[in-house]
Amino acid sequence: MAAAFLAPAVARAGTSDIPALKDVFRDHFKIGMAVDPWVAVEPPARDILIKHASSITACEVMKPDPMGVAADIYSFGDADALVDFARSHGIAVRGHTLCWHKRASDWFFAGDPADAAYASRVQARLETYVVNVVSHFRGKVYAWDVVNEAAADSGADVGGGAYRDSRWHQVLGPDYIDIAFRAARAADPAVQLFLNDYGLEKPDKRQRFMTILDEKLKRGVPVDGVGHQLHLSIGSTTAADIEPALAAVEARGLVSHVTELDISVYGDPASCWDTPPAGCQPEILPGSAAYDAALKAQADMYRSLFDLFTAHKSVTSVTTWGVADDQTWLDAYPIMRKNYPLLFDAQGKPKPAFRAVADTTHPAE
Ligand code: G3I
Repeated sequence: MAAAFLAPAVARAGTSDIPALKDVFRDHFKIGMAVDPWVAVEPPARDILIKHASSITACEVMKPDPMGVAADIYSFGDADALVDFARSHGIAVRGHTLCWHKRASDWFFAGDPADAAYASRVQARLETYVVNVVSHFRGKVYAWDVVNEAAADSGADVGGGAYRDSRWHQVLGPDYIDIAFRAARAADPAVQLFLNDYGLEKPDKRQRFMTILDEKLKRGVPVDGVGHQLHLSIGSTTAADIEPALAAVEARGLVSHVTELDISVYGDPASCWDTPPAGCQPEILPGSAAYDAALKAQADMYRSLFDLFTAHKSVTSVTTWGVADDQTWLDAYPIMRKNYPLLFDAQGKPKPAFRAVADTTHPAE
C-alpha cells in the first residue's frame, strides 16, 4: 500500500485518497464506531461512518434509560433513527445495552422490597423489557451487549465475590444475568449475545469476570461472546496484557468483540481515575510538542492492538467509542480536559493513529 496516501495532512476522512477501514479489515472483523443519531448525521462523523464503518453502536440511545421510559413504555425514536441511518448505508448495528447498573431506571425496582413477591416482580419487568426491546430490533441488530459490567472492580464487592454489588444483584442475585440472556434469546434466536465489561486486561478483574462467565456457561445460559471495552491510555496497557483475555474467551469456544476502544493521550496515574484530580496530567494542546509525542505513542499503541486483533480469528468486531476527537466522553472523565482518544481528529481528518492502523503493510511511522 503506497505510503503516498498516508502523507497529505489535508486528507479528509470521507475522501477517496485514504483506504476505508471496513475494506482494510474486511477479512478480519466488522469495524465501527459508537455514535448517537444527532452526531451521526452531521460532519465529521457522517463522512467517516459512511466511508469507514461496517458496524455502528449506539452510544446512549439504546440504553434502558433513556429507551425504557416506564413499564411497557418505550422511547424508540432516537434508536430507530440511528438504525435507519446505519441500514441506509449498509452498516450493521450493535445493541448497547439491555441491562446495566448505571442506567437502570427506578421503575424496574418499584415496590416494597419486603414484599414476598418483590423479586419476582422485578424479574418480570426485566424479562418484559428485554423481550420487547430485542423483539423491536429483531433482524436489525446483529449483536447485543445484554449485560454490562457485571464483574466486581475489586474483591471487596459482595464479600469478595466475583459479582458487582449492583441493584440487579441485590434484588435478583447472580440469576439476573441468566434472566436477561434467556429473555434476549427467546426474543431473537439469531442475534449474538454478549457479556460486556472493562478491565479484562487486568488479571484480577479477568479472573472475576471468567468466574461469572463459567458459571453461566455451566448453566447453559446462551452467551455467544465477550465484549472487551478497552478504554485505555497511552503507556498503560500493551497487546500482551490483552492477549490472555482473548485467549480465555477462545478457550471457552466463544467470540470476542472489542466494544469501546479508545486510547486517552494522558498517561494518568490511577489516582487521577480513583480520586480525581489527584495526579491528573495537565491538558495538552494541538500543535505542541507534547501533543505530537502523545499522538505518536497513541499511533504505536493502536497499531499493536490492531495487529493483535487481526491475529485472533475469534475477534469478529472492533468498535471505537466515538467517531472523531470532537466528541468523546473522555473530555469530561476523569476530569474536564480536552482529550484526543480516537482515530480521527476534531475536524475529521485521519490522525497518525489512523495511518498506523490502516497501513497494515508497513510499520507505523
Ligand atoms: O442527553 C442529555 C442532555 O439532554 C442533558 O442536557 C445532559 C446533561 O444532563 O445529559 C445528557 O445525557 C448524557 C449522555 O451521556 C449523553 O451525552 C448523560 O448525562 C451522561 O451521563 C451520559 O454519559 C454517558 C455514560 O456512558 C453514561 O450513559 C457517556 O456519554 C458514555 O460515553 C458512557 O459510555 C459508557 C458505556 O455505555 C459503558 N462502558 C463505559 C462507557 C464510558 O463510561
